[in-house]
Amino acid sequence: MKNKILVTGGAGYIGSHTCIALHQAGYDIVIYDNLSNSSREAINRVSKLICAPIEFIEGDIRDSDALRQVFAEHQFIGVIHFAGLKAVGESVAKPLMYYNNNVSGTITLLEVMAEYKVKNFVFSSSATVYGDPEILPIDENSPRSCTNPYGQSKLVVEHVLEDLAVSDSNWNLITLRYFNPVGAHASGQIGEDPNDIPNNLMPYISQVAVGKLAKLSIFGNDYPTVDGTGVRDFIHVTDLAAGHVAALKYLEQQTSNIGFMPINLGSGTGSSVLELVTAFAEVTGQNIPYQFAERRAGDIASCYASADKAQSLLGWQAQLSITDMCQDTWRWQSMNPNGYKV
Ligand code: NAD
Ligand code: UD1
Repeated sequence: MKNKILVTGGAGYIGSHTCIALHQAGYDIVIYDNLSNSSREAINRVSKLICAPIEFIEGDIRDSDALRQVFAEHQFIGVIHFAGLKAVGESVAKPLMYYNNNVSGTITLLEVMAEYKVKNFVFSSSATVYGDPEILPIDENSPRSCTNPYGQSKLVVEHVLEDLAVSDSNWNLITLRYFNPVGAHASGQIGEDPNDIPNNLMPYISQVAVGKLAKLSIFGNDYPTVDGTGVRDFIHVTDLAAGHVAALKYLEQQTSNIGFMPINLGSGTGSSVLELVTAFAEVTGQNIPYQFAERRAGDIASCYASADKAQSLLGWQAQLSITDMCQDTWRWQSMNPNGYKV
């Protein structure tokens, strides 16, 4: 196939949604995932949704021999690299595990890509690399800084990619900085399936709604924001998936190599925690008991994207609303109260 893409971490939350979008856009996909934070059931469901088998290889991005075998067997035009660990608190407790997985793993992957002369790369970065922003909305030239090992691991990889682009002009390294991904596929068949108690807001709200958790704690109501609660740029995972397809199409249209290119994927609009809770309750008709609690260490008041670069370069902008995000999260949560576990 002339358009085969390796999707590392393709069994995970964002990866699984992106695999659907890639298939619909005509790409042939191979998923490479060690299932450390996902399940085969997610891949089975993606396969059912696209009505086609999916080639899945269980493997670790730190295993260069296994990767070589994959690259030897397939002719990829590029790699979308989702594989990584993502829990901020865990990264503080286990920094070596995070640097090993996210930094060493990415370097191993890039080394094998270089060996096989596959030099189109789309990397999952995060708005966390902007730290506590001085200016809103945040554009791609904003200063970068991080306060926890997870964020640092993303920032270090960004630096690696920048250096790589300088060393060899054949690389195309699109770095997508996601804001706050939420929502689920409109079918209710795939969605976010956190292990244990969720850290992030939307999965926490939906588990309160379904009765698995008693009450939401809203961390801080004294921020300098519209209602005192934190403000974030929530972006529907389906829009995010479309952003990856747009990034690949953009790469295919280029007549010269682009080097390192960071692009924000956000809606461009901030919503407060309280606004999201209220919207979720309204849209779903569920009661969401909450209490105000102390600010969470490391949190910032407000964070939202300038999405202009994604629009001008990729022709991409978020289409789905907060209502869609709540509706789709609730459909997934209520149809699958235990996630992918039966
Ligand atoms: P996820 O945990 O659902 O998916 C990550 C996938 O990578 C999982 O399927 C996991 O099993 C796999 N994986 C982890 N380490 C691996 C390894 N060493 N080898 C092979 N596979 C491995 O997470 P997600 O929410 O889909 O996030 C995808 C990417 O986007 C991650 O890199 C994450 O840091 C980044 N990101 C996520 C968010 C978010 O809020 N979800 C925000 C910004 C950036
Ligand atoms: C967090 C991570 C960030 C990561 C992103 C996606 C931190 C400090 N940042 O972003 O690095 O890229 O997730 O994985 O962990 N909130 C509550 N109650 C809750 C949960 C959250 O009030 O139970 C509030 C938070 O205080 C914040 C907002 O909801 O104001 C969003 O929180 P969350 O979903 O965890 O995302 P971020 O903190 O923006």
